[in-house]
Amino acid sequence: MAAASLFLLLLLLLVLVLVAPASAVPFIVLHGIGDQCANHGVTKFTRLLADWSASDGYCLEIGSGTWDSWLMPLQKQADIVCTKVKEMKELSNGYNIVGLSQGNLIGRAVVEYCDDGPPVKNFISLGGPHAGTASVPLCGSGIFCMLADSLIKLEIYSDYVQEHLAPSGYMKIPTDIEDYFKGCRFLPKLNNEIPGERNATYKERFSNLENLVLIMFQDDAVLIPRETAWFGYYPDGAFDPVLPPQKTKLYIEDWIGLKTLDDDGRVKFVSVPGGHLGISKSDMRKYIVPYLKGKGKGKASIAATWRAITNSIGEAFVLN
Ligand SMILES: *[C@@H]1O[C@H](CO)[C@@H](O)[C@H](O)[C@H]1NC(C)=O
Repeated sequence: MAAASLFLLLLLLLVLVLVAPASAVPFIVLHGIGDQCANHGVTKFTRLLADWSASDGYCLEIGSGTWDSWLMPLQKQADIVCTKVKEMKELSNGYNIVGLSQGNLIGRAVVEYCDDGPPVKNFISLGGPHAGTASVPLCGSGIFCMLADSLIKLEIYSDYVQEHLAPSGYMKIPTDIEDYFKGCRFLPKLNNEIPGERNATYKERFSNLENLVLIMFQDDAVLIPRETAWFGYYPDGAFDPVLPPQKTKLYIEDWIGLKTLDDDGRVKFVSVPGGHLGISKSDMRKYIVPYLKGKGKGKASIAATWRAITNSIGEAFVLN
């Protein structure tokens, strides 16, 4: 019995080695604010996606992680990721980005600004403040958060706050648009919002994505409004109504290529139950994994092939 099982196992291994190499494109994960790659949640998230898609996944850290995610201006964070992706040989034939919350803006800056970087194929965004957010991300009640809160309330668009608090780069107060355009250093440029300063290269690069998956959480209480995860937002000058993405000027005038992508069927607007980033395993399998799986081009890495093999064996045993 044991010998027979062993024989079957070896046979299975042989078959898988010969036919399986699912040549999945590798992916990177960019975590959200206050998080770090070493944390259990993001580690597990990355590992599950890698296992289920049989692709290699890398959580890319920026500086010290937690603190730098709060304190380093987003442009600088994006520059660090740009340098890293260019150095990683594993990514040189292209890669996918999985963004969590603030990490999505860093990822988008890499797509739009990273000169000579490897090509980004699929962009999967979970709870990204793409069109801005009208409130400070949930920080907590510690002394640092109280300080951050009062600083932001005082002068979000001042040079000092823009240089020292990452989220000030995408806080867009609809009733203070003039100051936002004048003082906000990150999002207006990323979204090609400023007339006369729009750069066609950003649009061209963003429109080159194979797929853009925008996941919104139905009970998101961190992003204000939650529709920003789909590029929906308030109109300039008022807090209501929330405009659906297709009714925003960014979309209609196609500042960054969102409409181009959408007209071509490459944008997936996904709405899932749960609070900010609270995605279920079944929704991960349904909405993320399909975009991380290989389509049979190129060669799979040994690690990814090995995972595909062990997964199949695991599933074979479950079937038995
Ligand atoms: C637009 O962006 C590209 C890429 O970063 C840059 O090379 C180019 O100089 C920019 N063009 C203008 C007009 O600023």
